Amino acid sequence: MILILGDLKHLDYAEEIFSAAVEQGIMPQKVKDSYMKLLPDKFSKMTKQQIRENTLIDGGLVAMQLMLVAKAHGYDTNPIGGFERKEVMEALGVDVERYVPIMLISIGKAAKPAHSSVRLPIERVMSWNQANQVVGQPAQK
Ligand SMILES: Cc1cc2nc3c(=O)[nH]c(=O)nc-3n(C[C@H](O)[C@H](O)[C@H](O)COP(=O)(O)O)c2cc1C
Repeated sequence: MILILGDLKHLDYAEEIFSAAVEQGIMPQKVKDSYMKLLPDKFSKMTKQQIRENTLIDGGLVAMQLMLVAKAHGYDTNPIGGFERKEVMEALGVDVERYVPIMLISIGKAAKPAHSSVRLPIERVMSWNQANQVVGQPAQK
């Protein structure tokens, strides 16, 4: 089982990440400098809830990416959103002031092939320009 956590202090990594990007020639120094000037101020104006929402979005992307990478390496996964967050955090001794529990992902080799799945047709979940005409409306019979 892998526990995906969101770090409410993710801004603390910015300097390290942008410095590596500059060193590797991926990011111009002046872009890093402008981010490092801009981001702390932007973060200081965000509520804890807004920062938390960032981590949930990022954590969802990380979880999906991890599942795809696992599959590419011949493993199978299952995302688990329904778990006892407080107890799991306690059991693992995670700092709950800093980290947000997002998802558990079980990983292993499937005992048998997965059953097939159902998805809503694209026209039920997508609309062009007028979201309220389609999204959330029951399917027309
Ligand atoms: C956000 C989310 C939360 C889930 N939570 C659980 C869970 O708590 N326990 C569980 O056994 N499976 C959980 N699943 C896995 C689903 O039950 C299902 O196995 C998986 O989504 C693949 O089936 P599908 O292709 O029909 O969606 C969750 C899936 C998603 C996307």
